[in-house]
Amino acid sequence: MNNATQNLAPFSPGTFRLEGHKLIDMLADYLEKAINRHEMPVLPWSAPEELTEIYSKCFDDGSEEPFSMFISKAIERFNHLHHPRYIGHQVTSPLPLVALAQLVTTLMNNGAAVYEMGPVAMAMEKNIIRYFSGLIGYDDNADGIFTHGGSAGNLTAMLAVRQVKSTHNVWEEGVVKGLRTGFMVTDQSHYSIARNVKIMGLGNDALIRMPFDDHFSMRSDLLEKYYEKALKRGILPAAVVANACSTATGSYDNLEEIAGFCSSHNLWLHVDAAHGAGALFSEKYRHLLKGIELADSVVIDFHKMMLVPGLNTLVMFRDGSRSYETFAQKASYLFKGQAEKEWYNSALRTLECTKSSLGFVAYTAFKYYDRAFFANYIDSRYDLTRSFYRMITGRPGFEAATEPGANIVCFRYNPGEIDNEVLNRLNASIRDRIMKDGSFYIVQTELDGKLWLRVTIINPLTTEEDMQLLLDTVEDVSSKFQ
Ligand SMILES: Cc1ncc(COP(=O)(O)O)c(C=O)c1O
Repeated sequence: MNNATQNLAPFSPGTFRLEGHKLIDMLADYLEKAINRHEMPVLPWSAPEELTEIYSKCFDDGSEEPFSMFISKAIERFNHLHHPRYIGHQVTSPLPLVALAQLVTTLMNNGAAVYEMGPVAMAMEKNIIRYFSGLIGYDDNADGIFTHGGSAGNLTAMLAVRQVKSTHNVWEEGVVKGLRTGFMVTDQSHYSIARNVKIMGLGNDALIRMPFDDHFSMRSDLLEKYYEKALKRGILPAAVVANACSTATGSYDNLEEIAGFCSSHNLWLHVDAAHGAGALFSEKYRHLLKGIELADSVVIDFHKMMLVPGLNTLVMFRDGSRSYETFAQKASYLFKGQAEKEWYNSALRTLECTKSSLGFVAYTAFKYYDRAFFANYIDSRYDLTRSFYRMITGRPGFEAATEPGANIVCFRYNPGEIDNEVLNRLNASIRDRIMKDGSFYIVQTELDGKLWLRVTIINPLTTEEDMQLLLDTVEDVSSKFQ
């Protein structure tokens, strides 16, 4: 075989067709089993060392395991997010049709950083930006960019804040000069916010930590006081980062009130709506986002509450020209001195250089599933969460951290008269047992020294019966540890 023939063999369309058909059949079988709650664990637990050993053995054992067998075994061992009892982290069970669109992007491998590398994705991206601009209530000045994930999305917006609000040209001259730009946040913000402040070299003091109320929402009535305090410390407050909603408890901050404060003090309002932006679709829950149209920037994760495979994030800017300030730098080999505001060469405005065709995937989702579909999805998940909260508070031996804002609930088993430390260990053991036996996938979080079981009712197929069964299971498992 000569070199060219050897290179050609892996690209055989015949093999691709054959394996592809088998692959789709396997995935369809998985879907059928998962959504019908057939005898399959949500997460088939194996310890990290055990699973690594399994894959170490079959990596180069010379057995020539057929591709389809390799894939089918892996699917069995995956965490099954389409199972209605997957109610753990905020990662969606993707719409299968949209997952197929993502498959197209992986084979075509068009970058979406410069237009000529991924023209279709860029054109679609622009349309999705317009669509979300309308949903938010922005005008024609708005613009946006796609990033790989909400953490990168938050960094992108926060870099723009730093550049726009600094006392000097921080991009060129660095953070050592002038006053440090501060971000007013709560400890309920996603950890990427604090991390980004540190990535930007602003240090811990630049985090102006706002108190939050019993619902874990920012005490916006204290903004003035904390603003003044920061100034006295030599920090120049540049922005408020509002949660819509927060990660741990799904609490929405009062955006309208915060926006009022920002406008009176010339601060940037950044809304982290990575999780909670789905409420934009809902007549019933849209009020949770009242004031979002006043935000200078908004982050939206489509791979959370919009059923899109990850990672797929949109960062919106009310004044689109601001998005060019994030990376005030030129990569001349890519852009050849063209005018800067070429929206279709998005690498000018993103952290990533090579970027996948995120716009294509998002466009597919919103082309084939309309507003009514997403409204129904959001309403049904938020409604079910409220009903789960009532189940908890109405059942002896259970308590919840707070009333839900979105579709997240923190709760715990608390039969009473048990020391908090013991209760924490008990709930950690309960969660560990439930996760490992594969009956549900739930997570845990700590709030104020208390360990809570945490669910995100993100799967569109989870029902009241599933949630009732979860409480029965928690109670049942708890008896094994007492
Ligand atoms: C409010 C919020 N912002 C940002 C993120 C980070 O998003 P990603 O995981 O896409 O980086 C999360 C993740 O859970 C989140 O809940």
